[in-house]
Amino acid sequence: MSAARGASPTRSVAARTEGLTKIYGKGDAQVVALGGVTVAINAHEFTAVMGPSGSGKSTLMHCAAGLDEVTSGRVFIGDVDLTALKEKDLTRLRRDRIGFIFQAFNLIPTLTAKENILLPLSIAGRDPDQGWFDQVIDTVGLRDRLSHRPSELSGGQQQRVACARALVSRPDIIFADEPTGNLDSRSSREVLGFLRRSVTDFGQTIVMVTHDPVAASFTDRVLFLADGQVVEELLAPTAEKVLERMGRLDTSALDASHPDTSALDSAALGVSSTGASSTGALSAGALSTEA
Ligand SMILES: Nc1ncnc2c1ncn2[C@@H]1O[C@H](COP(=O)(O)OP(=O)(O)O)[C@@H](O)[C@H]1O
Ligand SMILES: [Mg+2]
Repeated sequence: MSAARGASPTRSVAARTEGLTKIYGKGDAQVVALGGVTVAINAHEFTAVMGPSGSGKSTLMHCAAGLDEVTSGRVFIGDVDLTALKEKDLTRLRRDRIGFIFQAFNLIPTLTAKENILLPLSIAGRDPDQGWFDQVIDTVGLRDRLSHRPSELSGGQQQRVACARALVSRPDIIFADEPTGNLDSRSSREVLGFLRRSVTDFGQTIVMVTHDPVAASFTDRVLFLADGQVVEELLAPTAEKVLERMGRLDTSALDASHPDTSALDSAALGVSSTGASSTGALSAGALSTEA
């Protein structure tokens, strides 16, 4: 895209990319995962990233968070260009300013919930702010689970531990890659509700990859990726609007030269090429009273 989407002059920008390109492999095996993405993530907003499987969502998150090297282009967290940092400084910046939530929770099995939550601070040699820790614990509803180990917690509870772990160091930005991908719909709602509150009540900045229009409806803004490019954005998303947009993008992908991939992707998304499958209609309808 030409101009930085969402780089509104009245809002501060938590993270942005400039012409971000990521190419995996060489020669015949070469894959252009991101083809020059210029995008801005507003501070204190909840942003969703959506798009077909393989469109570059995880790659964008990893590059934006300094977890993966870029092929070309630049990546900023606040004013800092990550692509210009030495490894040691990058590690420190990630530790101090960035939070992560992964689909697979990534908790340490031998540590209690409380120890897991405080681990990033322990590693950084920082003391937790007790008031903030209490606030986070009460918001995620883990007060009576702090001494449990991950194996003694449900998936939803484990992901809430991971959310608390990301939040407790007050990072400038949290990247969440399909955080509800392994959760049932009730646990998903709990986690999404918590992420939403941490933005609304605490001013956190969150970027979340999701396939789910209902999950996207918890956010302020949806960025749509296709073939390694940001192709659309949607402000104040509802599940219905997201579904409609996904259907439209999917149809244009079908019109282009990838019929096989598109059919596969739309199946994975649970949406027909018209955006009106029963699954989609159901999940959209399920949230319409809450959105
Ligand atoms: N480590 C890797 N090595 C080679 N190709 C990769 C690697 N990671 C991702 N890709 C490719 O890059 C493209 C984008 O992948 P990814 O960012 O994981 O997409 P998404 O998260 O949207 O499903 C895909 O074609 C994928 O196969
Ligand atoms: Mg992915």
